[in-house]
Amino acid sequence: SDLHALIERLPKAELHLHLEGTLEPEMMVALAERNGVDIPYASAQEARKAYDFSDLQDFLDLYYVGMKVLVTERDFHDLTLAYFERAHADNVRHAEIFLDPQGHTERGIDFDVCMRGVLSACEETEERFAITSKLILCFLRDLSEEKAFETLEACKPWLDRIEAVGLASAEKGNPPSKFARVFQAAADLGLKRVAHAGEEGPAEYVEEALDVLKVDRIDHGNRALDDMALVRRLKATAMTLTVCPLSNLALKGVARLEDHPIRTMLDLGLRATVNSDDPAYFGGYVNENYRRAADAVGLTREDVIQLAKNSFLGSFLGEEEIYAHL
Ligand code: HPA
Ligand code: ZN
Repeated sequence: SDLHALIERLPKAELHLHLEGTLEPEMMVALAERNGVDIPYASAQEARKAYDFSDLQDFLDLYYVGMKVLVTERDFHDLTLAYFERAHADNVRHAEIFLDPQGHTERGIDFDVCMRGVLSACEETEERFAITSKLILCFLRDLSEEKAFETLEACKPWLDRIEAVGLASAEKGNPPSKFARVFQAAADLGLKRVAHAGEEGPAEYVEEALDVLKVDRIDHGNRALDDMALVRRLKATAMTLTVCPLSNLALKGVARLEDHPIRTMLDLGLRATVNSDDPAYFGGYVNENYRRAADAVGLTREDVIQLAKNSFLGSFLGEEEIYAHL
């Protein structure tokens, strides 16, 4: 359709993308073989069949198993480059990508190995595809504050290559306030801050991310709509929400895509964006998220253009760089 053609040709930024969530089953099987790592699937097809999730934790359980095949610098490089090839096909011009270092350091992979592999692929991407990128390192919120501080310490030699810290993994029972001190320390190092909030957790966690973690963006934020005072605050401060429709469908945040709040968010004047989260697990990269959401909730051409604009406005690019994209 015309709307799909518009989506495909619009320049976009992607602001909510877990690199480890771009690990396609084919690459998982190939890397398992290359590194002699055991995975619970005999084939890519078998892995895909297992991707039927009841909630966030159910997904995370498989996500942490899948990433065990990532061992060498070359693995992180190949994974990252494969993502950017897909992003290029979707006309993504800028990406701010999440890495979960603790998903690797906790199983004995060196922090610097991950960083070298990812960053060399980012450089290659800028040369080959003219896609710019920034890196956001997420703390795993189901692990301790102490572990997060160890991760922040490992960041110090890489500060000029890290844009922000984030907060990911199991939200329920792990409120933003658990990481108040480590986010303050990250701010003191000059890092920007984002946090997953209001994906499964309540509107109060969104408020806490703003008040306690002083975040520059909210990842997901769906549940903020339960609190109209919070909605007014998000609108008044032009707070960016990095929304992920196919993720919300896959993890049962919404029963049907027709029930997805993306259209409501735009109608309320919120700076919502569309992103792919863990595309290898949730059934589509960024354009597929735009297309499926647009069809399901009836986005207009103006809505789609606004979403693409919001993706640059909500990015951590400088003002001149943002306006060059609009
Ligand atoms: N939510 C929280 N943590 C995550 C996700 C998500 O959707 N994907 C990868 N880590
Ligand atoms: Zn996410």
